[in-house]
Amino acid sequence: MEQLRKGLEELKPSNYLALHALPGYGKSTLVSETLQDDDLATDLFQKEMYWIKFGSEQSVAENILTQLNMLFHRVRNLDLLTEPTSEDSLKYFLRHHFSKHNHALLILDDVNRREIIEAFDFGCKTLVLTTDTDILRGKKCDIIEMNEGFTPKESLALFAKAIGVDASELPKQARQIHEECKGMPLMIAMFSAQFEDVKESLIEGDKRADTWSYYLDALKKKKSAVLQESLDKLKAIFEMCINKLSKDEIHYYETFAIFPEDC
Ligand SMILES: Nc1ncnc2c1ncn2[C@@H]1O[C@H](COP(=O)(O)OP(=O)(O)O)[C@@H](O)[C@H]1O
Ligand SMILES: [Mg+2]
Repeated sequence: MEQLRKGLEELKPSNYLALHALPGYGKSTLVSETLQDDDLATDLFQKEMYWIKFGSEQSVAENILTQLNMLFHRVRNLDLLTEPTSEDSLKYFLRHHFSKHNHALLILDDVNRREIIEAFDFGCKTLVLTTDTDILRGKKCDIIEMNEGFTPKESLALFAKAIGVDASELPKQARQIHEECKGMPLMIAMFSAQFEDVKESLIEGDKRADTWSYYLDALKKKKSAVLQESLDKLKAIFEMCINKLSKDEIHYYETFAIFPEDC
């Protein structure tokens, strides 16, 4: 967090700061926590911050137009009811706005295409959360790498908190689970949530060792190439959590849907 704070303090209008890590390494969480500091947000950005989350459901061109529109409405403080305007006029308006508000912070979350960087180049301060820093080639950009994940101590503290025991009481499998996950925050958080649900069987009883081994073995079964490995393991954790649901819960899970506000 200190490194991010420092990077934000040194970030100048027109320049970029990139947080670089694989998905699930805590980029969005870290930014959100850092920007909750009111003093920092006021001193550096006069509280003008626009968080734009890019999804992968749309084509890049559609994504850009949708997000330019949303930004335009947020900047103008309008409801999202008016008809979309053309891409050029949106960019013209936003460039004009940010030329007078170049202290503002634009947060481009989950951006992996250069076209998006170009479309949102408005001369203000820009923070980019990405898995690929090549998209910022040629821009004035500082990069913060965050592929470290949690330390064993941090992972064990989260497991212990979820189960309600002291970290020293955790069995060796807990540490091995951390190692298999390489401390990836998303995986550790998912395990913690799962452990909270089954905490009794992880603390006591004849099956205690078997329960811990069940989780460890589910992870170990997935052995593959380096980058794919994290994703496969993530899938294994999802499957493992789903397999532990009751019949009713599985039904809820399968019929669960989220409707974003602008649908
Ligand atoms: N510092 C943290 N403490 C506890 N859990 C965390 C922390 N950072 C990340 N996580 C967990 O990991 C998940 C993934 O983090 P996220 O910020 O969404 O990653 P990214 O943006 O890099 O894909 C979060 O939903 C949260 O559960
Ligand atoms: Mg994220």
